[in-house]
Amino acid sequence: MALIDAHGRNHDYLRISVTDRCNLRCVYCMGDEGIEQLPHDDILSYEEILEVVAAGAELGISKIRITGGEPLVRRGIVGLVREITSITGITDLAMTTNGILLARFAAKLKKAGLNRVNISLDSLQPEKYKRITRCGELQPVLDGIEAALEHDLKPVKLNIVLMKGINEREALDFLQMTLEKELHVRFIEYMPIGDHDRGYRNHYLSLGYIEEVAKNAGLSLSPVPLPGGAGPAESYTIPGSKGTVGLIHPISKHFCDSCNRLRLTAEGNLKACLYWQDEKPVRPVLGNKEALQALIREVLSSKPVEHQMAPDGICGSVKPGTMRGMSKTGG
Ligand code: 5AD
Ligand code: SF4
Repeated sequence: MALIDAHGRNHDYLRISVTDRCNLRCVYCMGDEGIEQLPHDDILSYEEILEVVAAGAELGISKIRITGGEPLVRRGIVGLVREITSITGITDLAMTTNGILLARFAAKLKKAGLNRVNISLDSLQPEKYKRITRCGELQPVLDGIEAALEHDLKPVKLNIVLMKGINEREALDFLQMTLEKELHVRFIEYMPIGDHDRGYRNHYLSLGYIEEVAKNAGLSLSPVPLPGGAGPAESYTIPGSKGTVGLIHPISKHFCDSCNRLRLTAEGNLKACLYWQDEKPVRPVLGNKEALQALIREVLSSKPVEHQMAPDGICGSVKPGTMRGMSKTGG
């Protein structure tokens, strides 16, 4: 079985947002008042999530990523990891986390079967980290990164949203992190997602900037295969370093033609494209495997060939600011 859409793309990857809640308030993700949280009953239960994973696995889903919000704030998350890895057909399970609680969880997650983590880290300066996340302490995240390396949640990838006037001066520090440690530093272009897009126009910076910084510092970036297989990043290494540098350009270069992912939002809507408003609730078809699998195929059949998001923040016919933020969709 395979989930192939109308444009010939094979979908073997499901990203699941397990909660819209978060212990941080990153400026690019939510407004300073945070988000209006979904009532507890609106969030899919673990049983419901597992039913969707099992139905998807029969159709050809083999890779899962758990995202949020912040997945480690949801109670029982280690149990969910264990259950997902026991589903036949699931061969890779990853998590995206802000790392604040990771030092506490790394060993348990590994033991439960989690393969690897992506950690969001937009500054290496404590004050700036606090400003970007509006409340976060940097040290626990650094400890979380060490714990992930120590407990073999590898490849350990770091996500850095590049923001002009905020963290671009730290680009070289991030590049240098790959020299000594087996870390995969990925720069991501700021996307106009969610209802707080006012900052976007002032802070968007194309990743050509990173190539310039590397060049000016005399660091050559040689192309390498992606650590851990397929994905949207262009991957490079600085010769002699232990890690890699990834560039993810959702805006300046689309990677839609190789998109292999579906998403399940925290309240249980299936989405074929992050930048598209179309989504379908799974709850009405839970308990009926055939209907659930038909729904997965239906969502896939209307997947757009590419998103319309452009550097001016206009997403096709979608007014910027009308889309749900990442904390509800899963990054
Ligand atoms: N632009 C780019 N990346 C974003 N993320 C969240 N919101 C945005 C945005 N507006 C990414 C962060 C985080 C992941 C969960 O999603 O890098 O690591
Ligand atoms: Fe939380 Fe992630 Fe959003 Fe930051 S980007 S507020 S860590 S969900």
